[in-house]
Amino acid sequence: MRIGVFSDVHGNLEALQACLTRLDKEGAERFIFCGDVIGYGPDPEACVQKILQLPLLACVLGNHDAALDRSELESYFNYDARLALEKTRKLLSPGSLYALTTLPERVQMPSFCVVHGTPADPIKEYFSSMLQFKSNLSLWEGSVCFVGHTHLSFYMKGTARNCTVSLCSKDGTKISLTRQSRYVINPGAVGKPRDKNPQAAFGLWDTKANTFTFLRESYDVKKTQEKMRKYKFPSFLIDSLAVGY
Ligand SMILES: [Fe+2]
Repeated sequence: MRIGVFSDVHGNLEALQACLTRLDKEGAERFIFCGDVIGYGPDPEACVQKILQLPLLACVLGNHDAALDRSELESYFNYDARLALEKTRKLLSPGSLYALTTLPERVQMPSFCVVHGTPADPIKEYFSSMLQFKSNLSLWEGSVCFVGHTHLSFYMKGTARNCTVSLCSKDGTKISLTRQSRYVINPGAVGKPRDKNPQAAFGLWDTKANTFTFLRESYDVKKTQEKMRKYKFPSFLIDSLAVGY
């Protein structure tokens, strides 16, 4: 089976459409989403509708999704992110707000796990170090743990004794998943990449070939920025989209 894996859409409809069109071309039949449907971007409602209509294998809660009704999480946000969240609340229907805030923090399937942050702390912690790889190994089951939250495309590979980490920001980078190792894979961010490349980042897991391919796709950044200006989103959030931050 070919599974589209994506994360951190952050209300960016143009980037989401580009991602789903590419995944369709790549033959994705099912989808895994690692959290943060909303926050930062101008189209939260359309993004919720589009994502929740997909044939989803797993979909988890991100910290921005959770902050919609857990105000204590806002204290971790900078000023711009708090302003964007306030605007997002006004742009969401009650049904979408409920659907988002009741997503699970973690999905554990026989062969993989999905969380936004880390298995130890799915909402707040960033999965970014080899030390975390080792300390989290006993907290999830299967071959792969898919994560989001850092907005960087990477994978960690290893065992309890040693592991490696590799950044994968180039379109088409394909890795083979071996049975001897376990993996943490972050497909990067669809709607707000932070690796200085403005293209939407996501990936494709081919469970038959047992490979994961990191993908990038351009989208109409100016169109998203125009909508953000119309809704008076903070200028830093508008400008950063064009430079991949
Ligand atoms: Fe995010």
